[in-house]
Amino acid sequence: MSAIRQLTALEILDSRGRPTIKTACELTSGARAGASVPSGASTGTAEALELRDREPRRYRGLGCRRAVANVNGELNRALAGRDFADQAELDATLLAVDGTPNKARLGANALLSVSLAFGRAVAVERGVALYRHFADVLGEPLRTLPRLTINLFSGGKHAGGQVPIQDVLVVPASARSVDEALAMTYEVYQSAADLTQRKYGMRALTADEGGLAPPFASAEAMLEDAVAAIEAAGFAPDGDVGLAVDVAASHFFRAGRYHLEAAALDSDAMIERVTGWLADFPIVSVEDALAEDDWDAWPRLRPRLAGRALVLGDDFLCTNPARIRRAIAAEAADALLLKVNQIGTLTEAAEAYRLARSAGWRVTLSARSGETEDDWLADLAVGWAGDQIKIGSITQSERLAKYNRLLEIEVETRLPVVAWPGTR
Ligand code: PGA
Ligand code: ZN
Repeated sequence: MSAIRQLTALEILDSRGRPTIKTACELTSGARAGASVPSGASTGTAEALELRDREPRRYRGLGCRRAVANVNGELNRALAGRDFADQAELDATLLAVDGTPNKARLGANALLSVSLAFGRAVAVERGVALYRHFADVLGEPLRTLPRLTINLFSGGKHAGGQVPIQDVLVVPASARSVDEALAMTYEVYQSAADLTQRKYGMRALTADEGGLAPPFASAEAMLEDAVAAIEAAGFAPDGDVGLAVDVAASHFFRAGRYHLEAAALDSDAMIERVTGWLADFPIVSVEDALAEDDWDAWPRLRPRLAGRALVLGDDFLCTNPARIRRAIAAEAADALLLKVNQIGTLTEAAEAYRLARSAGWRVTLSARSGETEDDWLADLAVGWAGDQIKIGSITQSERLAKYNRLLEIEVETRLPVVAWPGTR
């Protein structure tokens, strides 16, 4: 049992300089902790509603004062002085107070800030590390540390759309620890920066998540340059360092066609194109290769990639249990990208996680393009034994806060990195 004494929310800024919300939760035991909420740019349409002020003259409408007021006012009044048996009871109360299917009244950002701050305060009250508390919330033991997938090149909505594909990430597949994975990634990133300077005459320009963003001629050129950077760093593509791709295809899908560079591909042509990448490049994971509502085509994509690369759903699944159930039934994917703020409470995210695992899927825990210096994602990825974690590049402090937390957890727990993707 944990009783809330007070919730106190504050508008803070994310890594893009946009407002977001941070909430502190104080329990009657005196335990107190805060949590900040991230925010996406390449968002799925099925995401829970992020409440923004819509005052055009302040932060171009993106202020979060209403979400803050909802925590300090209504949610504080409804929750303060009440005892909660566990996270599930707290989250169920949040949903009941909001009363809408997509958290539109009080805002998913407001609700999630309370859900996370409560979780962290209870961990403090119990005197356990946050990753252990998250494992207990799920009811699973600690098992492994996640495999890192780290942004190297960016495009799409995170980089002004210079190439439609959103992210090419490196996967240090042979690394036996987080520590080793980061050291390998540093070499690849530096090689990629040199290549970008030599080939495109630019070095420092990075996108929202810190990926390099030169004007690639095509998606294939982006992948070729990533392989060149891996080789220049002295690693074997495939064996040592593989690639993950976030196609984020919803964002160039219009009127039934995928507008990839000059082409306007139908779903099957898009599937062929992506399948071709697997033949040519050491890709171990493909996220949102198709648009979020191209439900008919996803089941045709999956068998083409299965066994070679993960068929990972981000906007497609939106960490939404109903969408995940439908995708499992249709055999439309085999991996879930889990972003807690797509759904809005820890308990619902845990339900999404359990569903994915019940179907034998892999799970990637993911940050957003708008992040804060808060590091709870690292604890969540360990507590929930994610197969992959996707935080962004290694150049910006809001990303490094999570990598550094993983390094700390690695020393503290001595857990092994998950044996995925393994030798191919
Ligand atoms: P977002 O994108 O955080 O901008 O929505 C991240 C992703 O698509 O994985
Ligand atoms: Zn994505």
